[in-house]
Amino acid sequence: YTIPEFNENLVTWFNREKRDLPWRHNKNPYRVWVSEVMLQQTRVDTVIPYFNRFMERFPTMESLAEAEPEDVVKYWEGLGYYSRVRNLHQAVREVVAVYDGIVPEEKERFEKLKGVGPYTTGAVLSIAYNQPEPAVDGNVMRVMSRQFGIYDDIALPKTRKLFERVVRRLMDPSHASDFNEGVMELGATVCTPKNPMCSLCPVQEHCYAYTHNVQEELPVKTKK
Ligand code: ADE
Repeated sequence: YTIPEFNENLVTWFNREKRDLPWRHNKNPYRVWVSEVMLQQTRVDTVIPYFNRFMERFPTMESLAEAEPEDVVKYWEGLGYYSRVRNLHQAVREVVAVYDGIVPEEKERFEKLKGVGPYTTGAVLSIAYNQPEPAVDGNVMRVMSRQFGIYDDIALPKTRKLFERVVRRLMDPSHASDFNEGVMELGATVCTPKNPMCSLCPVQEHCYAYTHNVQEELPVKTKK
């Protein structure tokens, strides 16, 4: 089993099976950014109407930058974690003011923006700019821990770094966007926490958890 094979199977599956989601239509960095911040706290089905209303009201970074914080928060009401939208608003104001309204492609610049962590950085740079950066969330750790039989505790910060190294080794740099979104999609639709649908999985053949029938043991997560 080779790394190119894993890529090819995953990316081909993703392009065939991906759900039609609003943020997949026009992948400009602003839309990807907003969707990824919303998706960090909330399920896809809940996010869809919020994302559509938000984009209708604030179609560009300039329109968001000009808005009052109270107005912006209104479009987030019900999603929770309001510090995230306040940080996003501040960060977008900074992009408009400092970077002429262009989301920086340089990792060192993007990751310094307010509220932007390693996941958001990897997700925006890979999905919008096709940069070969890992974007490791819970879905990605579940897929990779099962595929390779990784029993490290995903509640520990150093474990996310381990999975970032796994992703960097695996991904074909020219397909970073489809690779990362493909792993997320696989985790969301097939490699689910309970009763994963292994018969539909494009990378079942060499999966450690499938082979040893330990899907439900992985990933390992201790309570904090
Ligand atoms: N979860 C986080 N990001 C996602 C995306 N781009 N597509 C589907 N599910 C996601």
